[in-house]
Amino acid sequence: MFKNLFITKPVEPAGHVDAGEPVEGSLQGEAVLKRSLTATQLVMLGIGAVIGAGIFVLSGHAAAEHAGPAIVLSFIIAGFACALAGLCYAEFAAMMPVSGSAYSYSYATLGEFVAWFIGWNLVLEYMFAASTVAVGWSGYLNSFLEYFGMALPASLASAPLNVVNGSLIYTGGLINLPAVFIVAALSGLCYVGITQSAIVNSVIVAIKVVVIVMFVAFAASYINPDNWVPFIPENEGPGKYGMSGVIRGAAVVFFAYIGFDAVSTAAGEAKNPQRDMPIGILGSLVICTVIYIIVALVLTGLLPYHLLSTPKPVATALEAYPALGWLKMIVEIGAIAGLSSVILVMLMGQPRIFYSMAKDGLLPQVFAKVHPKFQTPYMGTIIVGVFACLLAGFLPIGLLGELVSMGTLLAFATVSIGVLVLRKSRPDLPRPFRVPAAAIICPLGAAACLYLFWQPFSEHWHLMTGWTAIGMAIYFFYGYRNSKVRKAQR
Ligand code: ALA
Repeated sequence: MFKNLFITKPVEPAGHVDAGEPVEGSLQGEAVLKRSLTATQLVMLGIGAVIGAGIFVLSGHAAAEHAGPAIVLSFIIAGFACALAGLCYAEFAAMMPVSGSAYSYSYATLGEFVAWFIGWNLVLEYMFAASTVAVGWSGYLNSFLEYFGMALPASLASAPLNVVNGSLIYTGGLINLPAVFIVAALSGLCYVGITQSAIVNSVIVAIKVVVIVMFVAFAASYINPDNWVPFIPENEGPGKYGMSGVIRGAAVVFFAYIGFDAVSTAAGEAKNPQRDMPIGILGSLVICTVIYIIVALVLTGLLPYHLLSTPKPVATALEAYPALGWLKMIVEIGAIAGLSSVILVMLMGQPRIFYSMAKDGLLPQVFAKVHPKFQTPYMGTIIVGVFACLLAGFLPIGLLGELVSMGTLLAFATVSIGVLVLRKSRPDLPRPFRVPAAAIICPLGAAACLYLFWQPFSEHWHLMTGWTAIGMAIYFFYGYRNSKVRKAQR
């Protein structure tokens, strides 16, 4: 049994893939996913997934509570860890252009049990992230509706549940209605098709980037350099300012980078994945890192850091300057659009990972169903949409965000190790993109991700352990018995 758990899925060298070719695992005559995405659309997909609640919502909290102006350093540290993992993702995604992302890579390298564990963690990264960002979206929308006197009462725009010190508590809210609404609406878009979704995504990404450029350009002249002093405030306890605060801040703003790897879940739908996957993954990561560093500098330069802990810190920083009032409304519109595109990419990614897992027999076949007309994994899209609505409606952003970061960091660490394992076990495979100095970069990437993982884990270990236990139960009752790789080897 022990050996069975670590059975690997054989990797075949991927031939050149063209638009219109079916995706791995598809059967003759069966409806398949469509290869339609270009390199530019992949970079846009990455930016669409990356810039969101991390910079628009969580950055202020991380500066005020953990790092002060040195939140800039936190962004650099988190960006560095992501760059290392991003290189590893690029090697895999170019070599194995399939839909399952880290799940598929682990299956090929570290075996079925690890693959399941990672697939289960990717649910935290994708489905839970969609809900997390939807809660941030709800905050910006409600604040925007205030201009028109139409804001919803707090009880209809906040979560009724929270987990504090391991116990479930009732917060007084009823349901976060706007968050449920946006998840449901975007799930509908994913159901209809990836081409349409990518076009909508490109438009939203353009709006988001223009708004951020305007924020930086117009607000820069109002920066007061005194707000940057002291750059690293004196330590006031574990994770509160000083270098330990900078690291804790990095674990919080790590959330801001999540999503560049979502590009890899679209590998099955890319026109030329061998060339375009590294461009999509690394291109979006570099662009977002530069944007974050600049925005963090402007943000902490506009307002003393301890005033930034609000649900909409970018707008809050502008409120202090009446001459920039017009920009605040534009930033809010940009945030509402920007957060939508993140939710969209996450909602697109999750059913595609489930699709790969179902194709391997580890999940029920309902997740492998492809719509005959829209060519999308429609049943998975509906199921993910329903669960994401429930999470968004009933849980708060802080708790959801911590779970997302923990799941993602584990997946990143596993992918980094997987690159080395596959280099050893299948040195023969053609690798259109290779991680440079892999013997150093891969272990360093894994260590950096595990170090950041430890920060929230030491606080929320019970949630993570519970989540893993549920995953294990599903694997042993369903996946282990139905695995196609194991059946083929019997
Ligand atoms: N990186 C994404 C965000 O910040 C998940 O919203």
